[in-house]
Amino acid sequence: MVAAITPYRLDIVSAENPYPYYRELRDDDPAHFSAEEQLWVLTRFKDVSNAFRDWKTWSSTRRGNLVNDMPERIGRTLGTTDPPDHRFARGLVEKAFTRGTVERLAPRISSHAGVLARAALDRGEVDMVGAVSAPLNAAILGTMFGVPDADFLALRRWLDDFFLREEPAPGCESRQAVAMRELTKYLDRLASERVARPSDDLMSAMLQAEQDGRRLSREQVVVTTMTFLTAGFESTNNLFTNLAYALATHPAVYRRLRTRPELVPSFVEEGMRWDAAAQGFVRSPTRDVALHGKLIPEGAQVLLHIGSANRDERAFERPDEFDIERPSNRHLGLGKGIHFCVGAPLAREMANALFRALVGASRAWDVDLDRARRVTTPNFRGFSELPLRI
Ligand code: HEM
Repeated sequence: MVAAITPYRLDIVSAENPYPYYRELRDDDPAHFSAEEQLWVLTRFKDVSNAFRDWKTWSSTRRGNLVNDMPERIGRTLGTTDPPDHRFARGLVEKAFTRGTVERLAPRISSHAGVLARAALDRGEVDMVGAVSAPLNAAILGTMFGVPDADFLALRRWLDDFFLREEPAPGCESRQAVAMRELTKYLDRLASERVARPSDDLMSAMLQAEQDGRRLSREQVVVTTMTFLTAGFESTNNLFTNLAYALATHPAVYRRLRTRPELVPSFVEEGMRWDAAAQGFVRSPTRDVALHGKLIPEGAQVLLHIGSANRDERAFERPDEFDIERPSNRHLGLGKGIHFCVGAPLAREMANALFRALVGASRAWDVDLDRARRVTTPNFRGFSELPLRI
């Protein structure tokens, strides 16, 4: 018997604390249908994890992987294709983006993080997004793709605008659409240069990677670069700001990291579990699926709710506690299965370096929630502005 439960609404993701509601869904209606949003929501760890693994049943290409995905993205990006297209493209991306790519970037990440942390300390209070996260992202992701330093500012502006969710003035093009067009044009030009003169960067490596005599087309390389930049920019920003928030609300963890910086990597993992930056991704079943007494019809839009799965008491002990010494932390914060986040090693390297630098340099740790602003997209949770006092 299903208890009457409040229908899922997309804006719950940006609520101050959505977690008690997620728990109700897990307990009372684990295969939930929200008529209001025309969306199914799976909230238990086991269901979400199984669906991520079973790509034959749970397609990423029928309806994309984001709620309200843009039709022009679907079937063209890594995250919105199924095998065999996905296997081919991901194989080539992995040939180009290796452990070595991240290892080579590590010294630059650490020195940038150090400079930003010292500047933040000098000022006492900074906006975590504008003064720390965005410059670090633009510098590292830009460098990785061979964007010249002189173009970082333009890159940052396009990436900032790309995530705006504002309605354009009547008769005007939205800033998001302009940013997407400009960024594509810019990356297309960069790709032409790399075709003519390959260099030691990820775009050149993707253009040259080969499998069974086949290569990625130039258009695929441009689209993949765009996905890397946008996924990297938004997701890492959400991760960094959620981590800063978690630290401010857990002063004992902050004190512990001050004396034991080697615990920073497990702090980062626990942050990815406790307050998932990517709260959920969409799949669509290729056949009718019976689950928890319901029938999810073929072709439906289904949200695999990572934010909830990571707090499932069936999978984690004391799931609401922020415990940086969990013995095994098999969270779903970076996905699972064939679409497991390809940027994971880089995201971890950046988060570890940044928090080692910031915590190490700091004298205190506080965020001002009254002046903070949350991101308001239905898939992602984090802050677009977060005053941080260190
Ligand atoms: C350096 C930064 C990052 C880059 C370049 C990046 C890039 C990507 C790409 C291209 C995919 C699609 C992979 C595929 O379909 O084969 C992906 C998937 C994913 N990423 Fe990341 N990502 C980054 C950071 C993050 C962060 C910080 C998080 C969350 C904490 C995250 C969470 C995820 C998740 C959950 C998926 C699975 C999506 C799905 O199954 O549909 N990513 N990432």
